[in-house]
Amino acid sequence: MSSTLFSPIRLAGLELANRIVVSPMCQYSANDGCANDWHQIHLGMLANSGASLVVVEATHVERHGRITHGCVGLYSDDSEAALARAVSQARRRGTAKFGVQIAHAGRKGSAQRPWEGGGSLRAGEDPWPTIGPSAIPFGDNWHTPHEATEADLDRVRDAFVNSAKRALRIGFDAIELHMAHGYLLHSFMSPLSNRRTDDYGGSFENRLRFPLSVARAVRAVVPKAVPLGARITGSDWREGGLTPDDAVNIAKALKAEGLDFVDVSSGGVALDIRNPTEPGYNLAIAARVKREAGIATRAVGLIVTPEQAQAAVAGGATDMVALGRAFLDDPHWGWHAARALGGEVKLPPQYLRAGPKLWSPTVKG
Ligand SMILES: Cc1cc2nc3c(=O)[nH]c(=O)nc-3n(C[C@H](O)[C@H](O)[C@H](O)COP(=O)(O)O)c2cc1C
Repeated sequence: MSSTLFSPIRLAGLELANRIVVSPMCQYSANDGCANDWHQIHLGMLANSGASLVVVEATHVERHGRITHGCVGLYSDDSEAALARAVSQARRRGTAKFGVQIAHAGRKGSAQRPWEGGGSLRAGEDPWPTIGPSAIPFGDNWHTPHEATEADLDRVRDAFVNSAKRALRIGFDAIELHMAHGYLLHSFMSPLSNRRTDDYGGSFENRLRFPLSVARAVRAVVPKAVPLGARITGSDWREGGLTPDDAVNIAKALKAEGLDFVDVSSGGVALDIRNPTEPGYNLAIAARVKREAGIATRAVGLIVTPEQAQAAVAGGATDMVALGRAFLDDPHWGWHAARALGGEVKLPPQYLRAGPKLWSPTVKG
């Protein structure tokens, strides 16, 4: 039995063994932007998960662009060296390629770690000033961001470029820009968070101006062979917010800037918005993006079982799937999916005895 999920795909100069991606997941465990032994264990665990690509968590382009005090950064020599250390063993010893998501938290920054409340940092918790497109807080009891000035936008754009250069020095196989979940670039795109009256607000074209300028500047320093993509918003899930039509147009605009892929996620632009809870809730939007924008597409969001993932790819809704929580639950999810679907996955030599023979009825003790 052949499985589309386990067929290879090429993104720019990168050949991926299958269509399964580990979604970026913040660990809130860094020290002042520096990844540490937790990241080494976590990424090492996922390096031999059967996914062809592991995307490292939202990695912030400036210190005040972090979500929490525990978020990883790529904004200093120390943070670059720490991330290089954390991923180098995983890259050397794993079967997966490694990508990184570079991000700026914008008005969702200066927040507590989820297990410390997940709200905005209080006085005494070393909060920092945040920026956003407009001086509108993410929710009740959240910091009111400063409306980003032209100088802020120039600084942040440069910071994205510098982080991309650091990511390339580390040797990441792919880079993606975080343009979703209410963080800075998404907050510029969404009419719910962007009420500016200058060239960066109002029309769809104006709201995209800053995020697209970041994409253009980063593309200019990322060699063509290294895939550059973005996680985008399929829907804000709120009247007056971004819609699937907008997602198609965002993907088209990013493709025109030379990006190689988009990942379709959704939600997160305001505290009181809830995402749908049905399996694969972004798949129908991803299918439209793939069909109408004609860019390599990845879908994420409650894709949990191998059969669901296979159906999503084989049915043409998406080229790749990203899974988050399912990989935390089962770090060999890709192996188990291969077994269920008759696909093939590379095991490290040390683990070969856990391969198909283990599950064959003829196995001898
Ligand atoms: C612990 C955790 C951390 C996350 N951190 C990030 C992140 O750094 N960047 C991002 O784009 N999404 C992040 N997400 C969202 C996931 O990447 C994914 O889009 C979401 O969990 C839905 O996929 P799932 O249903 O397969 O988990 C995070 C999710 C979890 C559970």
